[in-house]
Amino acid sequence: MEDVDWLKSMLAIEREVRPPSSTRREQKYLDGNCVKLYHDGRIIAYAEIRKVGSHMEISTVLVDPEYRNQGYGKKLMQQAIEKIEHNKIMCCTKNPAMAKVLYDLDFKITKWPGFWTNFVLTINTFRRLISMIIRFDFKRIWLQGKNILNYDQFEIIRD
Ligand SMILES: CC(C)(COP(=O)(O)OP(=O)(O)OC[C@H]1O[C@@H](n2cnc3c(N)ncnc32)[C@H](O)[C@@H]1OP(=O)(O)O)[C@@H](O)C(=O)NCCC(=O)NCCS
Repeated sequence: MEDVDWLKSMLAIEREVRPPSSTRREQKYLDGNCVKLYHDGRIIAYAEIRKVGSHMEISTVLVDPEYRNQGYGKKLMQQAIEKIEHNKIMCCTKNPAMAKVLYDLDFKITKWPGFWTNFVLTINTFRRLISMIIRFDFKRIWLQGKNILNYDQFEIIRD
């Protein structure tokens, strides 16, 4: 399976992350600021890196269900952290396995990552909501919306 087909199928199944876009757009994500892991030449894990206010955010963290709980999520996050040169890194999740990975990598929960970061995160949340409405992805809206207060913001601040 091509990387882009794998990514689109993962985004379609995993309703806690952003919805899939067109093949061309997803290929752009894969060619952009992201980390990927391969096994036997096949993509098995993916995460995006983007600027959010005064932080770099690691988002859309995905490990193929066949390969979960084998350390790939941690390996992927380690590679993302190594790739980021910025001193403030953040990741938002309510997934317990993801939270475990983040604690293991010395992320700490923050209630206030700063005005600018919070502002951009809020705008991004609205943009995601609009993209889900456009796609009539009401199941995703419901799943993400009903748990919105359970999301934790994790950050690492380096010297
Ligand atoms: C979250 C995700 C990326 C983790 O990937 P992974 O490859 O399973 O991660 P790892 O194997 O490196 O580590 C998972 C850890 O969580 C633990 N874990 C698994 N389920 C858990 C749970 N329900 N509660 C607490 N810990 C849990 C595992 O035991 C493991 O800990 P260990 O390293 O001490 O053994 C993967 O589950 C995934 O793709 N989920 C769907 C998409 C998603 O929700 N992404 C997060 C969005 S930010």
